[in-house]
Amino acid sequence: MDDSALCVAIIGAGLSGLALALALHQQGINTSVYEARDAPLDIGGGLMLTPNGLKVLEKLGIYQFLNTQGYNFDRIYFQDGDSGRILETIEYGGLKRHGIRALRTYRRTVLKELLAKTHEEGIPIHFGRKFTQIVSETDDNVTWEFADGTTETASLLIGADGIHSTVRRYLAPGVEPTFGSMAAIVAAIPTAQLELPKADLDDLNNASNANPLPGGIVVPKVGAFVIAPQTFSGDEVMITVQRAMSEATHGHWTDLDADKEALKALFRQNADRFPPMVQNAVRDTPHANLKIWPFYHIPRLNRWTSAQAPGGCGRVAILGDSAHALPPSAGQGVNQAFEDAYTFALVLGRLILNSSIQKPTNDQLQKTLYSWQLFRQARVDRVLDLNRQMDLRRMPGAPDKDITAMDSAFDWPFKIDFDAGVTECMESADVTL
Ligand SMILES: Cc1cc2nc3c(=O)[nH]c(=O)nc-3n(C[C@H](O)[C@H](O)[C@H](O)COP(=O)(O)OP(=O)(O)OC[C@H]3O[C@@H](n4cnc5c(N)ncnc54)[C@H](O)[C@@H]3O)c2cc1C
Ligand SMILES: *[C@@H]1O[C@H](CO)[C@@H](O)[C@H](O)[C@H]1NC(C)=O
Ligand SMILES: *[C@@H]1O[C@H](CO)[C@@H](O)[C@H](O)[C@H]1NC(C)=O
Ligand SMILES: *[C@@H]1O[C@H](CO)[C@@H](O)[C@H](O)[C@H]1NC(C)=O
Repeated sequence: MDDSALCVAIIGAGLSGLALALALHQQGINTSVYEARDAPLDIGGGLMLTPNGLKVLEKLGIYQFLNTQGYNFDRIYFQDGDSGRILETIEYGGLKRHGIRALRTYRRTVLKELLAKTHEEGIPIHFGRKFTQIVSETDDNVTWEFADGTTETASLLIGADGIHSTVRRYLAPGVEPTFGSMAAIVAAIPTAQLELPKADLDDLNNASNANPLPGGIVVPKVGAFVIAPQTFSGDEVMITVQRAMSEATHGHWTDLDADKEALKALFRQNADRFPPMVQNAVRDTPHANLKIWPFYHIPRLNRWTSAQAPGGCGRVAILGDSAHALPPSAGQGVNQAFEDAYTFALVLGRLILNSSIQKPTNDQLQKTLYSWQLFRQARVDRVLDLNRQMDLRRMPGAPDKDITAMDSAFDWPFKIDFDAGVTECMESADVTL
């Protein structure tokens, strides 16, 4: 290791890890990525990307490749399943209000483009290297071990290793993902199967359609279906429902996922209470993309960096799902992870730019990273609150009043001023440089 400059090791080449590598690279910070698998983990399916996350991808130079590979839209509609009335329209994106449209695309597409960009930038990614533990942390560096027994040293180590994070064990021993007693059943079907009127098919997101998409179709006390186009032309939609799951199902997800006929039955539960579009959607769901996703989340952590850990030197941090895996209902998991990655790199970049010796002291680093954690945690706490509101309306038995309780003008999750946030972070860290 060249000890005259900072070098950052990233554990995990998933969505967070690859975004962080690109963001650090943009700040002129040397970085290496270590991934346990032979390729980034792709659990399949699609992602709903909102302006806050998309703006990060734009700054990282990959949005321009993504928006041609997914469904671009501005609004999500909540529709009353009984009357067909649109109860609520939420702007998830749009050029006028947000400067960028919302996008739904396959997870593998985002991973592919992030990976292509890291190759282009010459950022080293080491596959088949599984992190096992931190060996030591000093005022200058951190040393860790891989499953093959080898060790490496860097100035900083960032755990971007997902909900089942091993790096997290060092910062929050004993914290495990919590089962939310809910699961989503997800499938992909041709849009033609919905049998929408021809005019609707031409412009799926148009508010004057009878069934505008993406849409949440809500039947009070019964539940909600979500239908969302996920290809550029909109010729394929993701369909999903949320179901309460007993504690007994915990740990049996592989078996449940393998029983596709049982999943189909879960899909069809109460489908007759919904409009024809939903009944058409669940009539036949191809096994290939039919999956069950249990909701797990990480309990709120006090510590995302080792700055506050007993004996810690602030040389280890976590972000993305490792730090705050969110329930999927608000669709902010990866969007918040991209915010984490981008602001982390900006904060570190400012610190280095401001310190004449190019290498911040331990004290400067600790204060700055802790300040970054508080800044990020405040955003994530608000998203958790939003998740609770979303769950209320999607679950069977939701009281009527909650269906329309949310403020339809809300747009705070999609708005973030990265520079202002980072300036605030640096000021509250109050580091003397
Ligand atoms: C069904 C479902 C739908 C979702 N839909 C959305 C959505 O629409 N919008 C949204 O914003 N979010 C969504 N999310 C959440 C989103 O998937 C996560 O927030 C996101 O994947 C987090 O990225 P990550 O990089 O932190 O973790 P991961 O994607 O889990 O990546 C972690 C990486 O670390 C690697 N790794 C793990 N352990 C080690 C180790 N010991 N050593 C080295 N490498 C290791 C893994 O192999 C993996 O490549 C959804 C989640 C689910 C389950
Ligand atoms: C980054 O690594 C390259 C190649 O290993 C080296 O030439 C360069 O000096 C390093 N830069 C910093 C800031 O460490
Ligand atoms: C790590 O830091 C310690 C103490 O600051 C130093 O003695 C050691 O040489 C450093 N290790 C590497 C590999 O740079
Ligand atoms: C939506 O459809 C209506 C009726 O077909 C049309 O007049 C209108 O221009 C469309 N709106 C948009 C934003 O395309």
